[in-house]
Amino acid sequence: MRFAVLGNPIAHSLSPLIHQHFAQQCGIDLTYERLLVEGSLAETADKFFAAGGAGCNVTVPCKLEACAYASTLSDNAAAAGAVNTLKKEADGRISGFNTDGPGLMQDLKRLRFPLQGARVLLLGAGGAARGIVRPLLTEGISSLTIVNRTFDKAAVLATLCPEQIRACTYQELNAEIPSFDLVLNATAASLQGALPDVRDSVLQQAGAAYDLMYTPQGSTPFTLHCEDLGVRQCADGIGMLIAQAALSFKIWLGLDADVAQTVSYLRTYLAGRKQA
Ligand code: ATR
Repeated sequence: MRFAVLGNPIAHSLSPLIHQHFAQQCGIDLTYERLLVEGSLAETADKFFAAGGAGCNVTVPCKLEACAYASTLSDNAAAAGAVNTLKKEADGRISGFNTDGPGLMQDLKRLRFPLQGARVLLLGAGGAARGIVRPLLTEGISSLTIVNRTFDKAAVLATLCPEQIRACTYQELNAEIPSFDLVLNATAASLQGALPDVRDSVLQQAGAAYDLMYTPQGSTPFTLHCEDLGVRQCADGIGMLIAQAALSFKIWLGLDADVAQTVSYLRTYLAGRKQA
């Protein structure tokens, strides 16, 4: 069966490696390629499915376009307004899913981070943050505070569930007595080697910090900073990357991949590549 990941840029994508590893775990054969989207997502996806493609992942910057492309949407994809998984159904229609948020939830559970009843602080209100709001609310967290440099984007996200979500600025957050159990960094700050402007005591008090970004070393500027502050539970987003892939794999093939084993495999692979 033929699968692919579509995006631009795409050469860096680890999805082929991850899915080939899943296939090996499950004892099946598949092809999984990287397809560069140079024109529209629809053009590349149409060609892929016409050539026998069974399903594909969609990455930056095509997730919104993939949402419009799909004939039907899962609840998560509809709430996020973004699709990272497309599947060709038996009747030829293309279904759209978003496994990013559920992948993060699965990883937080694997790591035994606080979730049920937790007071969650979400940093950032861009594409990555948007995909995780609904899954967080369905996991039974007790409250969600979204903080963003551009306040309006946080305010728009908060309208998804005004009774449970509060939007605020970094200034407001830093002026309050901290009261969170879990801090999720969904900003692009780590990509720039920067830190979101959160007061240290907010992180220390929370005791659990997760960065949606990942690095070969397993730490980001955010998780390193949190470790330095003595935050007990810190993790980068490699487990989320693999869990969202495993959920796509399940949607396409109905098979369960071993996420924890794939995390070890990918860490070893990335460490070797870094040394080479
Ligand atoms: P992604 O799809 O990765 O979420 P995005 O949609 O461009 O990318 O969103 C990036 C997020 O990171 C935004 O919330 C952005 O804040 P603004 O909306 O105010 O731009 C946030 N961000 C980027 N760099 C940041 C930094 N140095 N500190 C804090 N937030 C940052």
